[in-house]
Amino acid sequence: MTETSIYGKYGAYLPLILQQLKAQIEQSAQDYLAKYGCALYEHLNTRLKTEDSIREKCARKSLPPTPRAALYDIKDAIGIRIVCSFIDDIYAIIARIRALDGVTIVNEKDYIKKAKPNGYRSYHLILALETPYEDVNGSTPGRYFAELQLRTIAMDSWAALEHQMKYKKNISNQALIVAELKRCADELAACDVSMQTIRELIRNS
Ligand code: GTP
Ligand code: MG
Repeated sequence: MTETSIYGKYGAYLPLILQQLKAQIEQSAQDYLAKYGCALYEHLNTRLKTEDSIREKCARKSLPPTPRAALYDIKDAIGIRIVCSFIDDIYAIIARIRALDGVTIVNEKDYIKKAKPNGYRSYHLILALETPYEDVNGSTPGRYFAELQLRTIAMDSWAALEHQMKYKKNISNQALIVAELKRCADELAACDVSMQTIRELIRNS
């Protein structure tokens, strides 16, 4: 038996909406590069939440497995992660995101200024996107949502390592690993600040 997608007919629009948002961000970064002569970010990754992943999240949040839950109650079916070399660049990108046509920031969490207790640092935005496609409320133009995560290269490598631990069960020396991860996160954060200061010194010399 083939299971129908939790995204329903709206699933077909998601790659198009993701592509459009990605293109807008890339264009904005190109404009910046042309104007200031330096790249705003190191790389950009995109993903659509898989069927399994979105169903698991619905279950975790006690939501029914419907298109409305997947695309309206849950707002990260569409995801973009931007990895920058410097902390300043993250805030410069956010300023440009605010100016994008058809894009509204509906939620933001600055885990850079205020890191999570485990040491996690990143800037998270939930974006509302105006699209030419019908949405789960029957509106056209339709409103879709995307999660944007911004972090430095150092924060990114830390998050990848910490993620590995989360998905491993029955770790024997967990307390030590958690403490070492926290120490590492704080050291990397200090390095990110130093790197930025050095860049400023170079620019001003
Ligand atoms: P979700 O219900 O999972 O979306 O959590 P939330 O709504 O509280 O969102 P939050 O902004 O805290 O986290 C969203 C995403 O950020 C997660 O799905 C992860 O990709 C990433 N993230 C948040 N916290 C951590 C963390 O401690 N470690 C790692 N590796 N990633 C994290
Ligand atoms: Mg989330």
